[in-house]
Amino acid sequence: MDVYDVLKLIKCRRSVRRFSSLDVEKHQIDLILDAAKWAPSAGNLQARDFILIKDIKQKRKIASAALNQNFIIAAPVVIVACANRMKSSKRYGFRGESLYCIQDTTASIQNMLLTIHSMGLSSCWVGAFDEKQIKDILKMPEDACPIAIIPVGYSDENPQTPTRSIEIHKENW
Ligand SMILES: Cc1cc2nc3c(=O)[nH]c(=O)nc-3n(C[C@H](O)[C@H](O)[C@H](O)COP(=O)(O)O)c2cc1C
Repeated sequence: MDVYDVLKLIKCRRSVRRFSSLDVEKHQIDLILDAAKWAPSAGNLQARDFILIKDIKQKRKIASAALNQNFIIAAPVVIVACANRMKSSKRYGFRGESLYCIQDTTASIQNMLLTIHSMGLSSCWVGAFDEKQIKDILKMPEDACPIAIIPVGYSDENPQTPTRSIEIHKENW
């Protein structure tokens, strides 16, 4: 795989909000979680946890807590990526609990999204949700922080490619 293959993988990944009824295999979930595991993290503390959901009732509750983003329900598997504040704060104090654990989690999320796409599966980073409701539904400890809901499944749509731009500052070049 050369750089152009990597860029193609990155550029062709799309947020999908319509899933087919095809199930996702356990070994596919294992690969996705392996990709999450190998993301960089501050001090290699890996201050992030993952909650796997298949239960339809739980998926319904999660979709409702995610401001009624009901496409989540149709995904056969839903992963909730959570920052582990406690783990990070023990070594890094305020910077750990307020920043590093969130960065650890988001790095792992991007790894997962790209791996999901590389397997012909699809997903969407869902960040709009009521945090307290999600924590209650999933019985998460007080210091845990849900960062993203990641529905995983086979796409039943062909989303258009959105535009991108980048701002580069060269004053210090
Ligand atoms: C932090 C964050 C939060 C997001 N939250 C949502 C969300 O709640 N619902 C949704 O449908 N998409 C959400 N998205 C997906 C973006 O809308 C999507 O990535 C963006 O429109 C670009 O499209 P693409 O992913 O297909 O390139 C979120 C993405 C990020 C990074």
